[in-house]
Amino acid sequence: MKPTQKPKRPHFSSGPCSKRPGWSPDHLKNALVGRSHRSKEAKACIQEVIERSITLLGIPDDYVCGIVPASDTGAVEIALWSLLGERGVDMLAWESFGSGWVTDVIRQLKLEHVRVLKADYGDLPDLSSASWSNDVVFTWNGTTSGVKVPNADWIWDNREGLSICDATSAAFAMDLPWDKLDVATWSWQKVMGGEAAHGMLVLSPRAVRRLETYTPPWPLPKIFRLTKNGKLIQGIFQGDTINTVSMLCIEDALDGLRWAEEIGGLPALIGRSQSNLQAVEDWVSKTPWIDFLANDRATRSNTSICMKIVDAWYRSLPKEEQAVKAKQLVKILEEEEVAYDFGSYRDAPPGVRLWGGATVDADDTRLLLPWLDWAFEQIKD
Ligand SMILES: Cc1ncc(COP(=O)(O)O)c(C=O)c1O
Repeated sequence: MKPTQKPKRPHFSSGPCSKRPGWSPDHLKNALVGRSHRSKEAKACIQEVIERSITLLGIPDDYVCGIVPASDTGAVEIALWSLLGERGVDMLAWESFGSGWVTDVIRQLKLEHVRVLKADYGDLPDLSSASWSNDVVFTWNGTTSGVKVPNADWIWDNREGLSICDATSAAFAMDLPWDKLDVATWSWQKVMGGEAAHGMLVLSPRAVRRLETYTPPWPLPKIFRLTKNGKLIQGIFQGDTINTVSMLCIEDALDGLRWAEEIGGLPALIGRSQSNLQAVEDWVSKTPWIDFLANDRATRSNTSICMKIVDAWYRSLPKEEQAVKAKQLVKILEEEEVAYDFGSYRDAPPGVRLWGGATVDADDTRLLLPWLDWAFEQIKD
């Protein structure tokens, strides 16, 4: 039977993600557009984003947090290019984004002492085999496979290298143990549903020490430079951004952070995201045609909820046909205006990926699920 009720907000994309409930462009009316980002007022807004992020996420006082160019990719690249090369590096990858960082380190930075710890979509590499005399680069939540690290127990307290974590689809929806992270990055358009533009970069005292004691042998473009004369450029972490920021995006980021505080801060954000996963788990447990891509429940993402079709008819199709059918399912529901942009990522196995971050209402997720059942029947015809 075709369901009758549609999700109120059909936004299930994994980036840019749904805006917060109640968002409208009116909330941007106080944006300091047309003002210099170096003006006192603009700098105060930029600084406010930093401070509210620090407070909300519980980032320790001795860490620094800054806004950098080029979204999460910019933040990760800045970290890799500025910090790596002092020692060997372990690169952990189990989906597309982690694999991208591996390519960077091997093909672009051309580092010699690189160990790649890889796993296929659905699994994690053996985290316990990471070598902490090396730097270790990893993604907290693999957005394209829906596999996250289950905890940080595998990160040594007495590590010699740095732990460098791409946390873009984890921050604000999963607990990040800051004492285990020397570098963490994220972008605004994910869990908080902000406008995409800038990246956030958090550095521990150990990461700052590395920056101040080690100079990589390769040239660093201006937008990657975090130090001057061997000292951290403090301004970057105090509202003095490397280059021009969008004041509209700054205002939007503030709007998201204020909303998060109003609803109860980080526990409320995590709770909202967990409710989305719970809704999907309840449905998957009684739905034989679909299953999670994550093979281990402990690694199942509550933000990028990736699923594969396991129905016998579907699995009997040739691989290319499976991909076509999965796309067809997504298209049917887009045309019905029930859900947008929830196809699996282009490099991932065919299936569906529902964003379950904090800005998505679990009621909407619940309303979508019977539509998935209906759409699956349609693609079988
Ligand atoms: C884990 C991960 N890393 C990096 C990126 C790239 O982020 P951005 O587009 O903000 O640069 C994404 C985007 O989805 C991601 O999910």
